[in-house]
Amino acid sequence: MAIRTILHYPDKRLREKAQPVTVIDDEIRKLAEDMAETMYAAPGCGLAATQIGVPKRLFVIDTATQDEPSALRVFINPEILHREGDTTWEEGCLSFPTVHEEVKRAARVKVRALGLDGKPFELEADGLLAVAIQHENDHLDGTLMIDRMSMLKRKMVTRKMEKRAQRGYKDQDEAST
Ligand code: NI
Repeated sequence: MAIRTILHYPDKRLREKAQPVTVIDDEIRKLAEDMAETMYAAPGCGLAATQIGVPKRLFVIDTATQDEPSALRVFINPEILHREGDTTWEEGCLSFPTVHEEVKRAARVKVRALGLDGKPFELEADGLLAVAIQHENDHLDGTLMIDRMSMLKRKMVTRKMEKRAQRGYKDQDEAST
């Protein structure tokens, strides 16, 4: 396993539309393992392949709290079949370090995807898991959480991230924590 580099906004690769996974082979299994390791190391509760510069339709999620056993889920070629209700959640994203903003999403979703064993599964989710599924699924289409914010917040976050990129990512992180 290996920890991969997470792309930060405004990296243009975050806007790429990911392509479906055609075969679940050792390369995909290794990719999923690396993504899980990268997500846990960050730490974060979700990571899409797009965020490590691999434009494939695959994401990992683990919404277990610190006291709970890990609950890693791998979604390959996911498809959101149904959305219901509204919720507003304060979201973060590993591609937007230090940013936490409210985003409006569906409260409940039904998703279909392939697991690492190649078998299709369906899952109905609410709460954090539903939010994470929608957030990660967006990444596969090159959609970012700033696209779902008000114009004002979007401008604020975009400016912050662009300044951070100009200064060199690390310094800004240290300054704001
Ligand atoms: Ni994200």
